[in-house]
Amino acid sequence: MDKILIKGGNSLNGAIPISGAKNAALPIMAASILTEDTLSLSNVPDLADIKTMANLLEPMGVEIAVDRRVNDPQGGQRMDLRAHAIVDTTAPYDLVRKMRASVFVLGPLLARCGTARVSLPGGCAIGARPVDLHVQGLEQLGAEITLDGGYINAAAPRGLRGAKIVFPKVSVGATENLMMAATLAKGETQLVNAACEPEVIDLANCLNAMGADIEGAGCGVIVIRGAPSLHGASYAIIPDRIETGTYAIVTAVTGGRVELVGARLEHIAALAEILVRAGVDVDETENGLSVSRVNGHLKGVDIMTEPFPGFPTDLQAQAMSLMTVAEGAAMITETIFENRFMHVPELMRMGANITVHHGSALVRGVDRLRGAPVMATDLRASVSLVVAALAAEGETVISRVYHLDRGYERLEAKLAACGAEVERLREAS
Ligand code: UD1
Repeated sequence: MDKILIKGGNSLNGAIPISGAKNAALPIMAASILTEDTLSLSNVPDLADIKTMANLLEPMGVEIAVDRRVNDPQGGQRMDLRAHAIVDTTAPYDLVRKMRASVFVLGPLLARCGTARVSLPGGCAIGARPVDLHVQGLEQLGAEITLDGGYINAAAPRGLRGAKIVFPKVSVGATENLMMAATLAKGETQLVNAACEPEVIDLANCLNAMGADIEGAGCGVIVIRGAPSLHGASYAIIPDRIETGTYAIVTAVTGGRVELVGARLEHIAALAEILVRAGVDVDETENGLSVSRVNGHLKGVDIMTEPFPGFPTDLQAQAMSLMTVAEGAAMITETIFENRFMHVPELMRMGANITVHHGSALVRGVDRLRGAPVMATDLRASVSLVVAALAAEGETVISRVYHLDRGYERLEAKLAACGAEVERLREAS
């Protein structure tokens, strides 16, 4: 298993191109099931999770052609997906356990084929993460669902029917799954208390380009008028706001000035506000965003994770690394997932001063972190160790970096181009 070696202490200067959003691309790839025509996507990131989704879709009958555009400095792939005929409606345990987002095929399979069998994702490193809201919503659209042998068996032999679904809790995945299912349902569906994340809007825009009739994505109530069929489309995935936020935090913690090319301020407004209060400059530029901390110390700022437009849980770990070296204290409260502080013991091994009490972590700033061998536990926790290592004195070796490869495209190259000392230590598995 590969490791990453980082020699900390360099400030970062230069430009980092922001890749397409993984969490927008995954449901949009699943949306290809909804039409027998070609869905042609651009700005798809080259990541392990994207390959896992392709490996899930191909045996179902989705033909996928990838053009890696290796010479394009912006990176990004073009991907054509064509689900001319669906030949298998099962999402097997082996793939779903690898990636929870596999559950996105449930709504589209049911809508197009009237049947789907999808493994339950099971426990995952950041808490229980059930799929009850996906299942209950599909039942409200008329699906009959049984749970058997660890699988969700769903059937809608007479097709799905539009309904008003009021989510008891905001869920990005359930909003997306039901939005996809409702595009081919008979009549109108209303999703109330829907998630407002930019990835939900991106999926709605892509579905509308495919002939769906969706209004209100990005607001709490989404209205979908079902269509008899959808058609092919060409669609470009939005830039990744979590990658944007991660590199903004890296720049803040190391000092220096980095332009995040392609980044959108409106997608990371909650983080930008925290950074500015911490003493970091965040400015829009012609090509994206400029983040800089040239003079002055970082100041501790309290953070609470919330659904969009609040502070994203997927940036909580990275923000905690930032606060470990800020002046004063910062209270970081996680409200979306339980057990999302696995990075804390690793940060403490690097000299951080953190006390966790239930869903809150009190971070008391220290002058310096020190490099240490540490272990990645999940995607965002592992990148928070990269943030800490870049700020630390000395060398850090991060093991289990396959977590990073799930969500960060060309991480070492992007950091090294701005002056970081980062090296991948390849090991035979
Ligand atoms: C998505 C993102 C993930 C991000 C999360 C929150 C993708 C592929 N992943 O995950 O990176 O951290 O949004 O912004 O887009 N819940 C239930 N029942 C359900 C579904 C969710 O109780 O059926 C709970 C979850 O346990 C969690 C909360 O709802 O406490 C929010 O989860 P949700 O928004 O669904 O996260 P995901 O869509 O899985």
